Amino acid sequence: MSQAVSTPPKAPGGLEGVVAAKSEICFIDGQAGRLVYRGYEIGDLVENATFEETAHLLWDGELPTRSDLDQLKRDLGASTKLPAHVIAILKALPADTQPMDALRTAASALGATDPDLRSNEPDANRRKAIRLTAQLPTIVTAFHRLRNGQQPVEPDPALSIAANFLYMLNGKRPHDTLTRVMDAALVLHAEHGMNASTFTARVTAATLADIHASVTAALGALKGPLHGGANQDVMELLLECQDPDAAEQRVRDMLNNKQKVPGFGHRVYRTFDPRATFLRKMSKQLGEAAGNTKWYEMSERIMPVAKELKGLSPNVDFFSASAYYTMEIPLDLFTPIFGIARVTGWCAHVMEQHKNNRIIRPTDDYVGPFGKKVVPIEQRG
Ligand SMILES: CC(C)(COP(=O)(O)OP(=O)(O)OC[C@H]1O[C@@H](n2cnc3c(N)ncnc32)[C@H](O)[C@@H]1OP(=O)(O)O)[C@@H](O)C(=O)NCCC(=O)NCCS
Repeated sequence: MSQAVSTPPKAPGGLEGVVAAKSEICFIDGQAGRLVYRGYEIGDLVENATFEETAHLLWDGELPTRSDLDQLKRDLGASTKLPAHVIAILKALPADTQPMDALRTAASALGATDPDLRSNEPDANRRKAIRLTAQLPTIVTAFHRLRNGQQPVEPDPALSIAANFLYMLNGKRPHDTLTRVMDAALVLHAEHGMNASTFTARVTAATLADIHASVTAALGALKGPLHGGANQDVMELLLECQDPDAAEQRVRDMLNNKQKVPGFGHRVYRTFDPRATFLRKMSKQLGEAAGNTKWYEMSERIMPVAKELKGLSPNVDFFSASAYYTMEIPLDLFTPIFGIARVTGWCAHVMEQHKNNRIIRPTDDYVGPFGKKVVPIEQRG
């Protein structure tokens, strides 16, 4: 047959507007700039709940009681150490490996010895979600120290995920303000509906692959500069410019030359990303506390330019860049931090997918040729 027999519906570019799943986990209103995790507004959660409480909410559908939370913290604390083979893999990686690649590789390797690897049952998935959430911060900090010729710091099972991350990174106990900011950043990044990495996790889970396979795939998707990789790019832009005037000019030039400015634009939000509202405040407060508001001021100067020239608002990655930099977090750990938070959302989606599964297998809009005939290789030009 030389022609297509039927014309399939046209695929919207980037699957824009396509509903990929029914979900009870997250609601986003892109017009109103509203983000809801399981019925709770993001502003309420970031101000009144910790990252551990948010993880419980995402996985179990409800905020924990005091005893639920104590149990979850004990379980997380008991899971923070890495198996010896994962430490060996981190040691074997070249020191110039990108931390996102180290994280993805080590997260995959965690599956090798996970006692629940072979089960996708809800209880097993929840235990694996706890272990992954506890272990990812240990991977990122251990790799960072190893690449700098330092010994990894043993996790302290009594600390929260946010405090433990900062402790394992720097080898000293973080003060409360820094821990609170880190915790809030994790809450803000924990979940975001059917974004690219979560969709990747769900597609993987829908083949009935396990949660480690799904999280590894999701980490691969998160790395890209159009997704989680943008926060590092924002900071590199600010560092290249060094002052507000230069930053404004640079962004004007980029937009006039049809270049993408990292940290702006979103598939869903048509207004200010509500997460950026909180990160903006955090960036300002951190700058004031550190006696250096330069990065925050540069960010503020860029914002109206992007609005004026392209109608663009900042997304989650814009102010997280200056906030993390002011916290003295190395640039190439910004995206891994996103992963440390988002693993909770990915796991919630994998659990939801496994509970009511059908393989995700869309079709495509074939626009290639028909009717060709194989010419023997000797006769091809
Ligand atoms: C997030 C993003 C990938 C969404 O992509 P999308 O929904 O496919 O939107 P598009 O890339 O088609 O953008 C629509 C229009 O806005 C423009 N635009 C979107 N984001 C832009 C940005 N950051 N800088 C400049 N222009 C941008 C596009 O060039 C396009 O303009 P056009 O219609 O004149 O061609 C996109 O906004 C982007 O690349 N942002 C920068 C990277 C980033 O910050 N990613 C983190 C997301 S949380």
